[in-house]
Amino acid sequence: MAESTKSATLTFDGKSIDLPMMSPTAGPDVIDIRKLYAQGNVFTYDPGFTSTAATDSAITFIDGDKGELLYRGYPIEQLADKSHFLEVCYLLLYGELPTAVEMVDFEARVTKHTMVHEQMHYFFRGFRRDSHPMATLVGVVGAMSAFYHDSLDISDQWQREVAAIRMIAKLPTIAAMAYKYSVGQPFVYPRNGLDYASNFLHMCFAVPCEDYQVSPTLAKALDRIMMLHADHEQNASTSTVRLAGSSGANPFACIAAGIACLWGPAHGGANQACLEMLREIGSLDRIPEFIARAKDKNDPFRLMGFGHRVYRNFDPRAKVMKESADEVLDLMGIHNNPLLQIAKELEKIALEDPYFIEKKLYPNVDFYSGIILEAMGFPTSMFTPIFALSRTVGWISQWKEMITDPNQKIGRPRQLYIGKTTRNYVDVADRVK
Ligand code: ACO
Repeated sequence: MAESTKSATLTFDGKSIDLPMMSPTAGPDVIDIRKLYAQGNVFTYDPGFTSTAATDSAITFIDGDKGELLYRGYPIEQLADKSHFLEVCYLLLYGELPTAVEMVDFEARVTKHTMVHEQMHYFFRGFRRDSHPMATLVGVVGAMSAFYHDSLDISDQWQREVAAIRMIAKLPTIAAMAYKYSVGQPFVYPRNGLDYASNFLHMCFAVPCEDYQVSPTLAKALDRIMMLHADHEQNASTSTVRLAGSSGANPFACIAAGIACLWGPAHGGANQACLEMLREIGSLDRIPEFIARAKDKNDPFRLMGFGHRVYRNFDPRAKVMKESADEVLDLMGIHNNPLLQIAKELEKIALEDPYFIEKKLYPNVDFYSGIILEAMGFPTSMFTPIFALSRTVGWISQWKEMITDPNQKIGRPRQLYIGKTTRNYVDVADRVK
């Protein structure tokens, strides 16, 4: 980030404050307000951080108007086409694409860590079988800090590295275990001879009593879903991870916080909510009714899988996802899938509707991912855990970046207080209502 020659002047209450500006390598300039309170005794007000950069970062860039998403400068479309998930993990973590030798070494480091501590198997038994796998994931990932004491010291670069690799390696194992537990089947141990996505499919769908062959096409489609979800700059869950980490909390606790945030339907939970919405719509003739509800100010209903804080043109991930949906359904021999038909028609109608055009609402990554995951055999409750295991590398990369940032401070937003001012305590006998 370069200091800009520009500056901004804020005028209020008859005084003027000059604020320095900074220029990013891409995206709009920022006004540096760090000294504003000290100089002007005022705060800024920005609920939802719509106009506030809380950090600098060199990992991911989104141009919402162009519909562009870059990981370390590489367009997501190129990565989705030519790369694979573990290579993307390396890129996000270390900043460059690996050489062939570096890739082999990284893969070996990740696969060495795929098993979880055997004692963790018993930990799962404390959950009800009908727990949502996201509930289990939050608990078990948080509990990793009780199992891996040798990677908790955040001031030790090596321990940070081990914690990062452990989480990338173990999240699929934990998510698969959460699924197996919920359906009452035995846990399936990881198979290190399989690639990352195939191993996850195997752990989810294999059973000890028969052979399970992973379909390479399904594995490729899942790998692509993982790449598309790997990072997305300062979204709600990533900011949660950074905020939790800013206090010096251990990395497992920080990622558990990110998973908790991701679960919400306005964020990662939208993939489950979207498929449930498509099921509720049920038939093409009911689409206008749901479009009308989405536009009705008095109805809290929103079209799930539509809209994004940053993308104002299209979500490039949704485009790739739509192509994958067709491929996977073809492979599975699912023709004329009613949910896909409803999704395509809903998208068409919404994109022509003045309400959605004016508010720049487009399908986001979650609009088509649920259809693909369902065709692969995953229940809706597993959609958000798959998002979580894919995003883990993004969260960790951002957490690692934060820990080594010399400007890093504990995150502590200010507030615009609107409560009572100082008043005296009243004895209970004297209280009148
Ligand atoms: N359906 C109908 N109207 C919508 C939708 C929607 N999906 N999304 C936004 N709007 C409307 C809002 O009602 C609001 O209208 P108003 O200006 O008349 O009040 C306007 O568009 C702006 O919406 P905000 O909620 O202010 O936009 P924000 O940037 O805060 O929210 C969000 C973005 C949370 C993604 C929102 O679009 C949404 O709730 N979408 C549905 C859930 C979803 O798909 N989430 C996944 C996001 S992608 C991800 O996390 C991987």
